[in-house]
Amino acid sequence: MLGSALIVASGQQSHRGGIFTSAQAEAGRVAYEKTCGRCHTLTLTGRQGKPEERPAVSSLSEADQKFIQNYSGRVPPLAGEVFLQRWGSKTAAQLVARFQEARFSFEEAGLTDDESIVQITAYVLQVNGAKSGSQPLTRTTDTIVSSATSNFEASPVR
Ligand code: HEC
Repeated sequence: MLGSALIVASGQQSHRGGIFTSAQAEAGRVAYEKTCGRCHTLTLTGRQGKPEERPAVSSLSEADQKFIQNYSGRVPPLAGEVFLQRWGSKTAAQLVARFQEARFSFEEAGLTDDESIVQITAYVLQVNGAKSGSQPLTRTTDTIVSSATSNFEASPVR
């Protein structure tokens, strides 16, 4: 009984998208909301200066508000079609490396954990439609982003 159940379960396992664990994505969500989420919004959809964007710009620190103002109130999305057009053909490792550049936002959040950037990347991949699996994401994961998020169409982000 148990044996055959295991075979069925592993037979259904897809290799697509299983490039991070659900624990990484969950830790990433928590870290994201304290850091990148301040500017890129809690829905990862970025800012265009609309009043419904959360968190509200007025609730942010002076430094964050200034940063956003420098870009005329616009912050690019980290999920959805526009993001995937720009990042879909890159590798997960390249995405981690780009996210590393935004680590300036860790200081204000009191984060020091270097692993957080990898976890945030896992969360971003998940919001873009990638599925978690048993394989942890690392700084050298060379999977093409769009091959992990290819079911994005089936589960669009709001
Ligand atoms: C203080 C506000 C702020 C914070 C915090 C912030 N960002 Fe950004 N981010 C921006 C703005 C504004 C831009 C657009 C200007 C630029 O490219 O530098 C941007 C651009 C980006 C881009 C380029 C997007 C593209 O498609 O070209 C990525 C990727 C990115 N941020 C990721 C992150 C990640 C990951 C974090 C958290 C670790 C983060 N950002 C934290 C404001 C912020």
